[in-house]
Amino acid sequence: MKPTATQESIIIAAEQFAKAELEHDPTGHDWWHVHRVNQMAGRLARSEGADAFICAVAALLHDVADEKLNESKEAGLQKVSSWLERQPVEEEDSRHIIEIIANMSYNAGANPPMRTLEGMVVQDADRLDAIGAIAIARTFLYAGWVGHPIYDPQITPRDSMSPKEYRQEKSTAINHFHEKLLKLKGLINTASAKPIAEERHRFMEQYLEQFRLEWEG
Ligand code: ADP
Ligand code: NI
Repeated sequence: MKPTATQESIIIAAEQFAKAELEHDPTGHDWWHVHRVNQMAGRLARSEGADAFICAVAALLHDVADEKLNESKEAGLQKVSSWLERQPVEEEDSRHIIEIIANMSYNAGANPPMRTLEGMVVQDADRLDAIGAIAIARTFLYAGWVGHPIYDPQITPRDSMSPKEYRQEKSTAINHFHEKLLKLKGLINTASAKPIAEERHRFMEQYLEQFRLEWEG
């Protein structure tokens, strides 16, 4: 399903909105993350037969609503809703996009599974950006931003945790691989994203092994 001319113009407006909102984000949720997620969502949408318009707008706006960048998750979603209201978007499409964005996040594994193919595609695209070479860079960038160390053998990875603990307790960049990133491969929704996730996962495992060898000297 190719987007109509009106939909194309909404996609361009969404790009500009996301760029303006996230241009200066220091947490790894910057515009280029959004750009990569949008590219990957397009690729997955084509091979999965998902609606390209819904996938593009949800991918472009997914981090505008991130709770880390807003007063609350509700405030973030409200920002996206009011933007959508000002666009010539069908009511049903608008609801669908908001539903995807509201359930995208890993949230320590606490969110329900995606209901629609478009949701699965966009979530996979976001998760693929959290595994692999770029993901390693994002993780250290984020850790630096919150003041976590690269690694500390005395802080062990947490097996299970509530979303609040996941967000607020002190951890390390290396622990984040064990607490989240290495789990993402098992949470991929679509067949098209699986082999990409597997390759990136292997790369992270190799990286962690090399890290361990160097740490132990
Ligand atoms: P989601 O997009 O699923 O809500 P987050 O916003 O929590 O996920 O994380 C996006 C990326 O930010 C992660 O893939 C990771 O690279 C980085 N990140 C998030 N939390 C941490 C953390 N505690 N330590 C290191 N990196 C983190
Ligand atoms: Ni994201």
